[in-house]
Amino acid sequence: MPATPMSPAQARQNMVDTLLQLQKEWGMPEISERVAAVLRTVPRHVFVPEVSLEQAYATDYAPPIRRAEDGLVTSSMSAVRVQAMMLDQAGLEPGMRVLEIGSGGYNAALIAELVGSAGEVTTIDIDAEVTDRARRYLDEAGYPDVRVVTGDAEYGVAEFAPYDRVIVTVRAWDLPPAWLAQLTETGRLVTPMRLRGVNRTVGLDRVEGHLVSRPDHHLTVFVPMQGAGAHEERGIAVQGEEIVLYSAEEPVDVDALRKALHGPRKEFWPGIEFTRPDRLHLWIAGHADRYAMLHVAEDVLEHGPAGPLARQPVPVVLADEGSVAVRAKRALGEDRFEIGVFAFGPHGERAAQDYIDVLRAWDQHEGSMARIEVWPSGTPEADLPTDRVRVLDKPHTRTVLAWP
Ligand SMILES: C[S@@+](CC[C@H](N)C(=O)[O-])C[C@H]1O[C@@H](n2cnc3c(N)ncnc32)[C@H](O)[C@@H]1O
Repeated sequence: MPATPMSPAQARQNMVDTLLQLQKEWGMPEISERVAAVLRTVPRHVFVPEVSLEQAYATDYAPPIRRAEDGLVTSSMSAVRVQAMMLDQAGLEPGMRVLEIGSGGYNAALIAELVGSAGEVTTIDIDAEVTDRARRYLDEAGYPDVRVVTGDAEYGVAEFAPYDRVIVTVRAWDLPPAWLAQLTETGRLVTPMRLRGVNRTVGLDRVEGHLVSRPDHHLTVFVPMQGAGAHEERGIAVQGEEIVLYSAEEPVDVDALRKALHGPRKEFWPGIEFTRPDRLHLWIAGHADRYAMLHVAEDVLEHGPAGPLARQPVPVVLADEGSVAVRAKRALGEDRFEIGVFAFGPHGERAAQDYIDVLRAWDQHEGSMARIEVWPSGTPEADLPTDRVRVLDKPHTRTVLAWP
């Protein structure tokens, strides 16, 4: 007998069961009962009719909604795993007024369920085709009260402000002043941030004129912001597109660096276990001085000059004459890894020593979450928190990293 096709309700139930299972097995952020309940309610497949039921309810798939002419995805419905996490970071309560930035429709419907009929949901997207479909599918799924606005979220949506929560579902380079200005005095902004090349999605509470992170933030990846806040992060091509350096804050001698990476390497294994890689990367970004992120294409990972290196971008420490120390890891046994450093170039050992000092401090610190504070640009040094480890300056903001 042919198998009975799965009903959407069953697919939703399975999706939530899988998320809860993943949480148990992989230590993913906990999903609250309230968020799990709305995930079981809102028909996700209605918002992505172009994919199968199975794909619509996969936990880690972000179905593409729009592509640019070159084929690059400019809009996708975020993976439900990420949506669940951000909704919990937002701590939505009945009656809240919420602005969502980036409109797939589905996430706005989840928010509408969480804030209830006494709440208000506004979602904005820069792409009229995205907002057209969001409007259509929100109506179809039974959420006619969600406001859908077409425009550049760089300026927020002043008309319906203030908001108790602003939830950003696009990768912003900087945080535009409107997002803070349109929050209530005790409001919260949940947003992906780019911190020296490290992606974190952070819940930030408004404290007077600045924002302070809540204890939990996570690694996520989003499509980049378009419009006035668009920012193309230019890497330094060390070897075409195969080896690229990002977030370097000093001039780099590219030829010397390429030569160093093709030369011999020295390995250092200071006996530090590799745990909580996402927190570790932010720690390195906060503590290393001559810092950058190295991206190595997959086909040169194993057999290329510097290989074998990690598949993901890795934080590196630079030294003179193209020398560099690169974070490495090796297995210690099942599911356990050790962090090491590969040193390249004439001053590679110097860079490796600096790197190891940062790693040892991490080991002693036992890996707590960073506190992230966002202050308006122009805030005098004397007004920033005294326990700051690093300040990252962007046109609109001064972001402070500190570790409690
Ligand atoms: C990941 S999608 C949003 C997904 C949506 N929140 C959902 O239901 O899953 C990101 C969206 O941000 C939009 N976007 C990019 N830059 C923007 C800007 N400056 N203002 C408003 N929307 C923008 C894109 O068009 C895209 O649709």
